[in-house]
Amino acid sequence: MRVLSGIQPSGGLHIGNYFGAMRQHIQLQAEHDCFYFIADYHALTSNPSPAEVTQRALDVTMDYLALGLDTEKTVFWRQSDVPEVTELTWLLSCVTPMGLLQRCTSYKEKVAQGISPNHGLFAYPVLQAADILIYKSDLVPVGADQKQHIEVTRDIAIRFNNAYGEIFTVPSEHIIESVAVVPGTDGQKMSKSYGNTVEIFEPEKSVRKKVMRIVTDSTPVDNPKNPDKCSVFALLKLVASCEELAEWEKRYREGGMGYSEAKKRLAELLIDYFKPYRQKRTELESNVDYVKKVLANGAERAQAVAGKTLAQARKAMGLGG
Ligand code: ADP
Ligand code: TRP
Repeated sequence: MRVLSGIQPSGGLHIGNYFGAMRQHIQLQAEHDCFYFIADYHALTSNPSPAEVTQRALDVTMDYLALGLDTEKTVFWRQSDVPEVTELTWLLSCVTPMGLLQRCTSYKEKVAQGISPNHGLFAYPVLQAADILIYKSDLVPVGADQKQHIEVTRDIAIRFNNAYGEIFTVPSEHIIESVAVVPGTDGQKMSKSYGNTVEIFEPEKSVRKKVMRIVTDSTPVDNPKNPDKCSVFALLKLVASCEELAEWEKRYREGGMGYSEAKKRLAELLIDYFKPYRQKRTELESNVDYVKKVLANGAERAQAVAGKTLAQARKAMGLGG
């Protein structure tokens, strides 16, 4: 089965990205034909500086390699190294009703936040559909926030196939279970755009500082607390053993426990969890040529597939005949 997913290089990857997406990406390699890419074309919609565009793609590559991505087996590339996908975006745009994009909640949310939208942001789901369809993906593992984009992709694929013949595989989404939404330090969804993240590879000191600042309610130490409403507990669930978690749950419910105690333990568990990967990450930083070679090799393998699908779609639409 072909599994495909993209990750936006919009800043240091955080533990929400890891538990919500990367960990599953890495696990899926064992059983499937995996295609993963760095969505740098998508990242342009927020107008980062050119230096950031270049550096962030390398950072994401180093993060994935350090966390166990096997690039012998998995195809891993930078989206913009396979520009065929932008041509397919245009072909798909011409079968995409405006209403389908106007209904996309991620776009509406960004506009509601006061972001002045460019056309790229509006058309973003069509580029995402092209990413998925050009590699004939069967399964797209993503966090719950991306579900609608996969539905849009399916809709576009069906419309295209009905109009021009069965070119595209209609993909299924695979919503990554158990950690649908990882909360950030302010209790909202952890996200680069909210400034509430804990990065996977940020200095240990800063992990501790951020964890200690996680927003909690003002229940006094002696009173019972509700673990299901606490971001610290939600994060403990990701890194504590079952026995330890059960113990914390009991302590929350009994009262007599201060949030700072749980926070201190959470910081140590997070640091320990990522410790084995830190050294690898540091080694990669001093071997950027190797990182670039990995990307070049991935692009070559991805391009071989993308070129074929694009040729089929062009032909089906009557181009170049
Ligand atoms: P951000 O919101 O920080 O910009 P992205 O949108 O780039 O993160 O997300 C990359 C991947 O990580 C997506 O598959 C997304 O669903 C997942 N993800 C991001 N934040 C979280 C979170 N807080 N909880 C669970 N999954 C997340
Ligand atoms: N939009 C996705 C996100 O923000 C990233 C992405 C781009 C993607 N293209 C994709 C994910 C294709 C899955 C498949 O997380």
